[in-house]
Amino acid sequence: MFNLELSETHQMIRDTARQFAQEEVSPSTIQRDIKGEFPTDIVNKMGELGFLGMMVPSEWGGSDLDALSYVIAMEEISKVDASVGVVMSVNNSLVCWGINEYGTPEQKEKYLKPLASGQVIGAFCLSEPEAGSDATSQHTMATQDGDYWVINGTKNWITNGTSASTYLVLAQTDREKRHKGITCFIVEKGTEGFTHGVKEDKLGIRSSDTCSLGFTNVRVHKDNILGGVGLGFKIAMESLNGGRIGIAAQALGIAAGAFEAAVKYSQQRTAFGKPICELQAIQLKLAEMSMKVEAARLLVHKAAWMKDQHMNYIKAAAHAKLFASKTAVEVALEAIQVHGGYGYVREYLVERYLRDAKITEIYEGTSEIQHIVIARELIKEMA
Ligand code: CAA
Repeated sequence: MFNLELSETHQMIRDTARQFAQEEVSPSTIQRDIKGEFPTDIVNKMGELGFLGMMVPSEWGGSDLDALSYVIAMEEISKVDASVGVVMSVNNSLVCWGINEYGTPEQKEKYLKPLASGQVIGAFCLSEPEAGSDATSQHTMATQDGDYWVINGTKNWITNGTSASTYLVLAQTDREKRHKGITCFIVEKGTEGFTHGVKEDKLGIRSSDTCSLGFTNVRVHKDNILGGVGLGFKIAMESLNGGRIGIAAQALGIAAGAFEAAVKYSQQRTAFGKPICELQAIQLKLAEMSMKVEAARLLVHKAAWMKDQHMNYIKAAAHAKLFASKTAVEVALEAIQVHGGYGYVREYLVERYLRDAKITEIYEGTSEIQHIVIARELIKEMA
């Protein structure tokens, strides 16, 4: 049964992540946001704490924990800094998960161990200039040349794009077969012909590292195919189901952070002779915000729990992402309103929650795509 009580282990993970976020992440958050600076030291420390390969078995360098542990840690870290949250989410859900699930023992030894233990980080390369929501329309091509495959094309919006060492790259290997002709390659940084563009200057999650990638006759050995020729789209979709739970937890963290900031401010700020939290206009907002945060947490935890139970969690993951991302935007907006003019300036932090929140409605499947995923799943269930 889905249990609403956190176990002692889950409480311990929450407390560890909370302490790490407060002590190690928080002090540099504002400066990194302003400068768009990647949190290298923080990511290294996350690796040491086991936050980068949370669901990977210990034999492959991971923490051997469940998806519920992962979302609990993601919420705490994203509550303080969603840029750090997305580095963690992509490494865990979109890179480690696929290699752990589909990799050969040799691939796990060579790539998963360093990724899961945080010695290096990874990137997941599906989106292209003309293939975002329509992910089956891959233009990046890989053609076979003896024991090697030669990749040509461009990838866009790649999280950890310049900082990663290991890249999972989706490419079309048989155009006739549409999505069944897409293959996933493990590509190492530094491979000849593999280049990255400049970091994007983004509205939010500014200290995460997003860029385009170029592939010009990049030669990759056939041993670096993940899962098998033609299995790439399946791996990508399955990875994204878990990734959507991670982003939902990131959005939940943003919403929870904005909500807490609003409550604290409303207790300190006085107007009309009393703290504004005693004014009904503010109380209505705080009550709505708290309800949405709680509901988002329930959906996120339920999706993680279903994943842990090996149930079909496609719809639950989409529910969680759709609702938590909408909640993050709405709660961040209200937190600004509660702060009044102070909410509109950088010093008070809440404007960053709004800027960070917006991306959760876009990446790893837009809200529009989540609606489609939910509708398709429920039609299947009710057929
Ligand atoms: N889980 C498992 N399989 C899935 C799936 C899911 N959620 N969604 C689709 N599939 C499977 C289908 O079952 C089908 O497989 P079969 O042919 O074997 O039955 C196959 O994928 C193709 O599906 P459709 O025929 O339905 O294809 P479509 O083109 O009509 O729709 C889509 C596919 C659902 C819209 C898909 O393209 C999609 O999810 N798009 C969004 C892409 C996305 O999320 N991009 C995020 C980029 S990564 C990112 O943001 C990372 C980052 O750095 C932060």
